[in-house]
Amino acid sequence: MPFAKNDHIQIATIGVGGMGSGDTQMAQQIPGVKLMAVADLYDGRLERAKEKWGADIATTRDYREILARKDVDAVIIGTSDHYHAQISIDAMNAGKDVYCEKPMVQKIEQGHAVWETQKKTGRILQVGSQYASSMVFQKARELFKQGAIGQLNLVEAWLDRSTAIGAWQYSIPPDANPERVDWDRYVAITKKRPFDAKRFFRWRNYQDYGTGVAGDLYVHLLTGLHVVTGSMGPRRVYSTGGTRFWLDERDVADVTLALVDYPKTEQHPEFTLALRVNLASGGSIEGFGVRFVGSEGVMTVGYTTLTLQRHPRETEPGYTIGTFPKAVQEQFLKDYNAKYPKGKPNADAMRPDREDVFSPPRDHSPHLEHHRNFYNAIRSRNPFFEDAEFGLRTAGPALLCNHSYYEHKICEWDPKSLKRTA
Ligand SMILES: NC(=O)c1ccc[n+]([C@@H]2O[C@H](COP(=O)([O-])OP(=O)(O)OC[C@H]3O[C@@H](n4cnc5c(N)ncnc54)[C@H](O)[C@@H]3O)[C@@H](O)[C@H]2O)c1
Repeated sequence: MPFAKNDHIQIATIGVGGMGSGDTQMAQQIPGVKLMAVADLYDGRLERAKEKWGADIATTRDYREILARKDVDAVIIGTSDHYHAQISIDAMNAGKDVYCEKPMVQKIEQGHAVWETQKKTGRILQVGSQYASSMVFQKARELFKQGAIGQLNLVEAWLDRSTAIGAWQYSIPPDANPERVDWDRYVAITKKRPFDAKRFFRWRNYQDYGTGVAGDLYVHLLTGLHVVTGSMGPRRVYSTGGTRFWLDERDVADVTLALVDYPKTEQHPEFTLALRVNLASGGSIEGFGVRFVGSEGVMTVGYTTLTLQRHPRETEPGYTIGTFPKAVQEQFLKDYNAKYPKGKPNADAMRPDREDVFSPPRDHSPHLEHHRNFYNAIRSRNPFFEDAEFGLRTAGPALLCNHSYYEHKICEWDPKSLKRTA
């Protein structure tokens, strides 16, 4: 049970940049959740936390002070990726439940340490890949289980972006200097370098602090895939690409492709996933989707819609049918139309035949739902399924794509031991 009285849950956020702030905002919309403290390494963000959430919020540069507080039940971890594992482990050992932003870890081995700590301490750990709580992915899971697309043969997943922010060129504040930024603490667990505002505020561009496209974005796509198929993970990955457009100081790729082979399980047959993340797209629209290609149809899941197209696999009437005697033609058509009835004209008549589109209510927020699931788990002690094991099952193969990319080789993964095998 939470430390706080009357079923209230008191939280603190560690890392209140873009996503940590968004998470904190969501959390405070859940009845009974109260923000007590925040930690961050840039003073500007600590000051902003007080401006937004009240002067009585405690602030610190040292996250361990937060973990030592008896009035904090759970923490949100919104730091750059390199701190996820250490803070998650320290937090669980300090008796806190944890909502950790994706990817759960920066390195595969850390995933095992986080998972072990979760098992040992019995704390709730939920990874912040919010599409696990999205109604469109839940609906896709239901349809997949019902066999709506038949046998799964191929999955394609993509994320395309065209803007500077989309390509991680985040704003650097004018007071980015060593007095206002605790750089020493930032690099304490990675390679020591002199203060560099770009590395601090645009950390995703550097392997020391981030995980490149693989940990940042493949993870979302793999999460969606695993939610829908119930998959335990792949057995082989190959990734390629390069830094094509953002020829700045980054040491990570901006265009990446990966082929990921999934073995047969009780939930699905053997299939291949083709992944693409392109931060150098033209145009202005962010593209995101996971397309499940089956023997009977295709299901495409986007941020807010799911489209299901069914394909009759039998020969459609046409071409040779005119060569049959008239009575045979009529019988053929009768049988065919009985098996594949044409949709009746209605308000949806603009849609192509045999296409269904599912859209959740306009106010559905996967992010808010994901937080709701976290606080429900804290109260019930019944974890939401995106726990440390799930986090490792998605982050592990995603990070293995980085190994494949940098080592120029096919890498093998064991979905039982959740370890790289070659
Ligand atoms: N779920 C999603 O859709 C989603 C979207 C964006 C970001 N994220 C994830 O959220 C995390 C944060 O990303 P962001 O865009 O908010 O980055 P950001 O740079 O805006 O914020 C990160 C903050 O963490 C702070 N920080 C770093 N190390 C710290 C430490 N040891 N103690 C206290 N504070 C520390 C930094 O000072 C910074 O303010 C990343 O892991 C990212 O992958 C998830």
